[in-house]
Amino acid sequence: MPATVLTGLQWGDEGKAKVIDVLTQLFDIVVRYQGGANAGHTTVTEEFGKIVFHLIPSGILYPDKTCVIANGVLTDTEQLLLEIEELKEKGVSVEGRLKVSDRSHVVLPYHKILDRAADIKRGIGTTGRGMGPGYGDKYARIGLRAGDLANLDRLSKKITAKKDDLDALMRLHMDTPKLQEELMEILAKHGLDKYYSPDTGFNLELIVGELKPQAVELMPFITDTVVYLNTALDSGKDVLFEGAQGALLDIDFGTYPYCTPSNSDATGVSAGSGIAPTRIDHIIGLMKAYITRVGGGPCPTESDDEIGEKLREQGGEYGATTGRPRRCGWFDAVATRHAARYNHPDSFIITKLDVLKGIDPLKICTAYELDSKRIEHFPADIEDLAKCKPLYEEMPGFHEDIRGAREFESLPENAQKYVNRIKELVSKEATIRMISTGPGREERIDL
Ligand code: IMP
Repeated sequence: MPATVLTGLQWGDEGKAKVIDVLTQLFDIVVRYQGGANAGHTTVTEEFGKIVFHLIPSGILYPDKTCVIANGVLTDTEQLLLEIEELKEKGVSVEGRLKVSDRSHVVLPYHKILDRAADIKRGIGTTGRGMGPGYGDKYARIGLRAGDLANLDRLSKKITAKKDDLDALMRLHMDTPKLQEELMEILAKHGLDKYYSPDTGFNLELIVGELKPQAVELMPFITDTVVYLNTALDSGKDVLFEGAQGALLDIDFGTYPYCTPSNSDATGVSAGSGIAPTRIDHIIGLMKAYITRVGGGPCPTESDDEIGEKLREQGGEYGATTGRPRRCGWFDAVATRHAARYNHPDSFIITKLDVLKGIDPLKICTAYELDSKRIEHFPADIEDLAKCKPLYEEMPGFHEDIRGAREFESLPENAQKYVNRIKELVSKEATIRMISTGPGREERIDL
């Protein structure tokens, strides 16, 4: 499986962590190519217990795998060091097995503060990990890259020179005492209040002071990952590109502006890792058997009733990064088909089928009604999407406990029919490669 992309086809949280854990065994190298510490991949293993990864691919837990944080990722230096430290404490050495692109942009506390400040008024419900301001700096061409950590004097000057601009931006965001008060409460909760005060603005000296030792610690990991990855592919290595978030949060094709500021699917691989599109061999699309979303923005099939509640409880649907309860609802074939169109997976992995136990009937959204017309495409305009009413078809549910099932034929007939139906509605061509029937590594059907 030379170069393979694994991408979520919904609003993230499709159960990537478990699938990546299973797939990693087949690869030599695992790559993150977009997003940053906004992602949250929880792994639970007998050997290491529970670890939540935000930046480092969980493949690092396998001693023979190399993990790459490629150029498209926003590298949060503090978070990265925390993860390296936690791994060390658990006896996992990352030396020589973790590579961070010298071209990846760096996220610093001021990005996180600006993210929190902007979101109070904007209401996207971001993770507060600095993604918007971080990518904003990148595209405004005023960002700092991991490669810059090699020259600390130059870096310090670049950061402290930002003071007037950053303070002016904060005054624009925080234009009432009430907003300031609200922000300061949020910053205190997340340990960010030491970097900013409404009276004196940003404390960039403190940020620089903390960054210097971080830079020294991170330097051994920073390298040209474009050369590394292309050379690895030249020599026949198998590389897994691990998408974070999901295709419906993509900055171009997702529910703009309620999205994440990166190409959070297969479309981001080339620009985010320096691998040409012609080098990508397989794309695996991951879809959960129902839908979830965290944060703001339309979600046509959200079930704000006992079904949504049941899915949340049975599926443990709470955010790994923020702990927020996820919004849950019926499988949306219109939205997932939209994602499959621009990702064009050659295979699917369906997750959390077991969670649907006891929900009868099962509904699948096959089209929307917009302004009294039936439509089968996913509207680009967010207000149109918010007006869409889902049109459902119903299928009988199943009541048997299928947790841990390993054979497709052992599934209740209604579960089999449901899986086949959602697959058919999303793509006629791609085949189902795996069905996950529980959180454990072995709880899955390989097809
Ligand atoms: P940001 O990526 O922190 O800017 O957040 C933008 C939107 O993406 C918000 O609605 C977040 O809840 C959502 N989001 C970001 N990361 C994830 C993720 O890993 N899973 C699910 N939603 C996410």
